[in-house]
Amino acid sequence: MIFVDACFGKKTAYTPVWMMRQAGRYLPEYMKVRAQAGDFLSLCKDPQKACEVTLQPVDILGVDAAILFSDILVVPLEMGMELQFLKGEGPVFSRPIKDQADLDKLDVQKAIENLEYVYETIRLIRGKLAADKALIGFCGAPWTLATYMIEGQGTKTYALVKKMIYSNPQFMHAFLKKVTEVLKGYMQRQIENGANVVMIFDSWAAALEQSAYFEFSWSYMKEISAYLKAQFPHVPVILFPKGISGYLDKIDGEFDVFGVDWSTPIELAKAKLGHKYVLQGNMEPTRLYTKDAIDEGIAHIVDVMKNERHIFNLGHGILPDIPVEHAKYFIEQVQTRTKI
Ligand code: CP3
Repeated sequence: MIFVDACFGKKTAYTPVWMMRQAGRYLPEYMKVRAQAGDFLSLCKDPQKACEVTLQPVDILGVDAAILFSDILVVPLEMGMELQFLKGEGPVFSRPIKDQADLDKLDVQKAIENLEYVYETIRLIRGKLAADKALIGFCGAPWTLATYMIEGQGTKTYALVKKMIYSNPQFMHAFLKKVTEVLKGYMQRQIENGANVVMIFDSWAAALEQSAYFEFSWSYMKEISAYLKAQFPHVPVILFPKGISGYLDKIDGEFDVFGVDWSTPIELAKAKLGHKYVLQGNMEPTRLYTKDAIDEGIAHIVDVMKNERHIFNLGHGILPDIPVEHAKYFIEQVQTRTKI
């Protein structure tokens, strides 16, 4: 698989490419299946339909990897938390975690088992996906999950979860440790059921100052990665901490690919981390609104990353109102312009 080869830094015929959130609302085909499923969570829990939408961007755009269709929040859901996706508001947990008693109610082993619908989805996808295309499994970073589980919803200030860090660090570590245990088992099962690569999304990394980031987030991401690499050295691990360009000097650990977000200049990521890790990224997603901006974005990244170990991607997820034709153009252009 060209994608797996590139994750290990091997020379490939061109730079493989995919897009974060490539299965989603910008595709009319996705909207059709989503309408049949009812709501978003029902779609995540329906292996046949989740498999179908996972494969759509591979067929429609020709990306080099499929990413499992699911969500990072199915983990707290299956640990026992009540989750709803409200129209216009995003995810909401009706009873956020406040204290040790709430944490004690969450069950590690049950969560790993309750997520069977994800493992079944992976088996279905791997059965249908072309042999030369990789399937990416994923989870959220313990810190990013904590922001939703403790705040109860998306937040601008992170006041509750950060108050917990500074007022009760022991509790925060106990919390993150428990979530980390679930994620180790969850990622292990994703791999055992057919995921060829795994990625950990730390979307809200930038909410933390440097010392807190390394203590409360990166350490747990590294722990999950080291656990997986010890058992599955042939499965690449991608870590994506979004928005921490100021902390790159301190990035270390046992993993294969560092995901570069759009706010980090690719030259900077190359200088700081390119010798240690394969880099993935990082075209600014809103460049997809115009073909000129796409051309310019690709040209810059190709110029910086030629002869370097690289996987092409956007620097965060594709937006719902991007024309499909532009997404297709982006994928084609990367695959042709990077050909050796
Ligand atoms: O194509 C893919 O990338 C795979 C599927 C995927 C989804 N969510 C589907 C989804 C992945 C990898 C995620 C990860 C995810 N989910 C993250 C981390 C990545 C990132 O984007 O930073 C986060 C923070 C979440 C939590 C989440 N899920 C939010 C905040 C929302 C609501 C915002 C929105 O776009 O509506 C979701 C919903 C969600 N997850 C959708 C999809 C396709 C939209 C649901 C729909 O309306 O159909």
